[in-house]
Amino acid sequence: MEIDVSRLLAESPLCHVEWLNQVDSTNSRALKLAAESSLATPFLIGADQQTAGRGRGANQWWGADGSLMFSIVVDMPQLGLVAAEWPRFSLITGLAIGETISEFLPAARVGVKWPNDVWVDDRKICGILIEQGDRLSDRLVVGIGINVNNSFAEAPEAQRRIAISMTDAGQGRAFSRTEILISFLSHWHSLIKQLTEGTVNLVERWSHACVLSGRPVTVNSGTNETVGICAGIDDDGRLLLRTAFAMEHCYAGTVRLLD
Ligand code: BTN
Repeated sequence: MEIDVSRLLAESPLCHVEWLNQVDSTNSRALKLAAESSLATPFLIGADQQTAGRGRGANQWWGADGSLMFSIVVDMPQLGLVAAEWPRFSLITGLAIGETISEFLPAARVGVKWPNDVWVDDRKICGILIEQGDRLSDRLVVGIGINVNNSFAEAPEAQRRIAISMTDAGQGRAFSRTEILISFLSHWHSLIKQLTEGTVNLVERWSHACVLSGRPVTVNSGTNETVGICAGIDDDGRLLLRTAFAMEHCYAGTVRLLD
């Protein structure tokens, strides 16, 4: 089913939507457009297919037919935030995706995995990549890939163990990507408002939704690997890891579950 752009514009705060059949990466296209200050924000770039979708670090993002891939350009001061607040903003974005998926799949075991993946049944359903074109820019590109109608049922075992889609979790049901987008924008808007008003207890909300909390994990920072029990996040959005010696606060790294 195609994305209904008119409905998206009518039922969300988006100023502009560009939906493409194919693009290299919606984040790359959005970063290019973000530099054009005449384009009002927030605006969304989406595509049915990406030929060079990017993930965090050096990872690629393979989005099969039926997945939902888009990037939204936001102006942080316009949202009432400063660009430096993007780690908390990124956590809020993961929570909003989690709430959206729960709305469509109320019986599913949905959670967030630090720093900003969303999991269902301990498998990844969504990845988020936030980028800033220019270090001094107030504009951020929030790139999101959600496995919606792209089933992993026929995928190799190794992939089925780590990835899942909404249709897999919903016993083959097909979902409207337009409705998912509209719902996400509404959850996101409400959480951003709570963040700017200081009415969201991010540590509590995140730690409660975190699939890693209380479980043994390793955090690989590229140079060293730390093993410990995840204890949620701290006020700055860093992952808390109880090791044999201390409570470590992790800024960055790849987290892997050990159980
Ligand atoms: C990750 O899990 O590492 C992040 C994945 C982000 C993928 C999305 S798909 C839409 C947008 N365009 C990209 O090139 N990447 C993001």
